[in-house]
Amino acid sequence: MAPLLEAIGIGKTYPGGTVANDGVNLSVNAGEVHAVVGENGAGKSTLMKILFGIEHPDRGELRLDGKPVSFANPREAIDAGIGMVFQHFSLVPSFSVYENVVLGSEPHAGIKFDRAKAIAEVRALSEKFRLQVDPLPPVGSLPVGQQQRVEILKALYRNARILILDEPTAVLAPQEVAELFVAIRSLVAQGRTVIFIAHKLPEVLEISDSITVMRAGKTVGQVKAREVTEQSLATLMVGREVALKVDRADTDQSRRVCAVQNVTILNERGNEVCADLSLNVHAGEIVGLVGVEGNGQAELLEAVAGLRPVAAGAIDLDGSNVVPLSVLERRGIGLASIPEDRIASGLATGASVAENLVATKLNDRRYVRNGLLDLKAIGANARKLIERFSIRVSGPNAAVGTLSGGNMQKVVVARELSEQPQLLLVSQPTRGVDLGATQFIWRSITDARDAGAAVLLSSADLSELLALSDRLLVFYRGRIVAAFLNRGDLAPETLGTYMLGLSTQTPDEMRAALK
Ligand SMILES: Nc1ncnc2c1ncn2[C@@H]1O[C@H](COP(=O)(O)OP(=O)(O)OP(=O)(O)O)[C@@H](O)[C@H]1O
Ligand SMILES: [Mg+2]
Repeated sequence: MAPLLEAIGIGKTYPGGTVANDGVNLSVNAGEVHAVVGENGAGKSTLMKILFGIEHPDRGELRLDGKPVSFANPREAIDAGIGMVFQHFSLVPSFSVYENVVLGSEPHAGIKFDRAKAIAEVRALSEKFRLQVDPLPPVGSLPVGQQQRVEILKALYRNARILILDEPTAVLAPQEVAELFVAIRSLVAQGRTVIFIAHKLPEVLEISDSITVMRAGKTVGQVKAREVTEQSLATLMVGREVALKVDRADTDQSRRVCAVQNVTILNERGNEVCADLSLNVHAGEIVGLVGVEGNGQAELLEAVAGLRPVAAGAIDLDGSNVVPLSVLERRGIGLASIPEDRIASGLATGASVAENLVATKLNDRRYVRNGLLDLKAIGANARKLIERFSIRVSGPNAAVGTLSGGNMQKVVVARELSEQPQLLLVSQPTRGVDLGATQFIWRSITDARDAGAAVLLSSADLSELLALSDRLLVFYRGRIVAAFLNRGDLAPETLGTYMLGLSTQTPDEMRAALK
């Protein structure tokens, strides 16, 4: 039997001259979960956009049910039974869930939009495929995991037989990933086919039947998930052996760099997101903040960075309270920050790589004197950091917005670690980042630690927290409910019970790890 969907010898060069696909082959069988993996910039999203009619190949052929097809636009792909959920959603925030799902394909009673029918259909669809979501609230009020379900429902409402998910797990907390996988299994059990892109190999091995590996615009192989290991798949992806752990040197952790003292933080609606919270970070240690997203970790890091006010308490850096200081003043005394949402708060995408690499140093006389930019010094700084942090880019003047996800993240990491910080705040450092770059970013963070930085790390990825942290603090509803020294014997499941609020340590149990 012919594969359901095939791409044969696909080539695609973007107007700027980037060869994104160079003889790509893909063969997807009906009823399977087919993963596409590869490093940042390998050409995965480009291939998916070609399958969905957004980009057009320069050469090669697509076949559906064994017959050649071409899609001039997404409408034609949808009519052929293909649906796609993008890395960035395209929902209308002020519209309700059901309005978003039926938008453009609304059921009618006579000439009127039949709302009752739309709501009933969305409910039925969400039950059928185990994509639980209330049809009524506006999409903008929902957490991202539910917004993603709305996107999937939207594709299913248009009768997608083949559903393309481009990095669906990159925005999800571990529990939400588990829920998404339930839905994906239910989809294939009911005869649908799923094409799935992800960077985290344990996820890929868990959910997929077949895996196509891309490297530098080419497909380098297709394998069965049950016939490979994480290590062999990593080697196939990167073309060399990849170490999926880091070694932590012994450091002197006696000097306290940062003390968070009885801090209370409110969110935009005035509710407490951190309550009377205290913790210390010492030179030479990484303190991992564990927790389901939304339990106060992100807000705490923002407050330390100076991006969010504290309602009560003090934050000491090197013995003096920084709460009254601005972001820039805090940076001046050695604070660096790798934020979670690099595109919104870490980078100016229209500006060049060189400009972004000095964006936080505009009062540094090496780059700006008498209000004038020293372009030569800025260019030299960029060339040095591009080399040191292996940023894949055509040159210092390329706009950051044209880089792949992993390389954008490297620009932020390079800027923040270009000088040794005293206190480093890190949030989701490797979300959407490929294996090679993950390894590199992990090493950059531990190098800063080994050189004496105090590091506060927040991540939704438990394996990342366990790999990097010296101590782990579990957040639940804005409080620390457990604390551990990370000696290598800690199981993710142990953390899980505290993360979900199922148990709490006593103050005595916490003491050793709360130094
Ligand atoms: N619209 C565009 N214009 C010019 N170049 C582009 C465009 N979109 C992607 N590219 C380039 O094409 C190459 C492949 O990009 P693509 O987005 O397909 O990679 P990817 O495998 O999805 O990477 P990631 O894992 O970072 O999402 C990259 O070098 C990228 O910079
Ligand atoms: Mg992509």
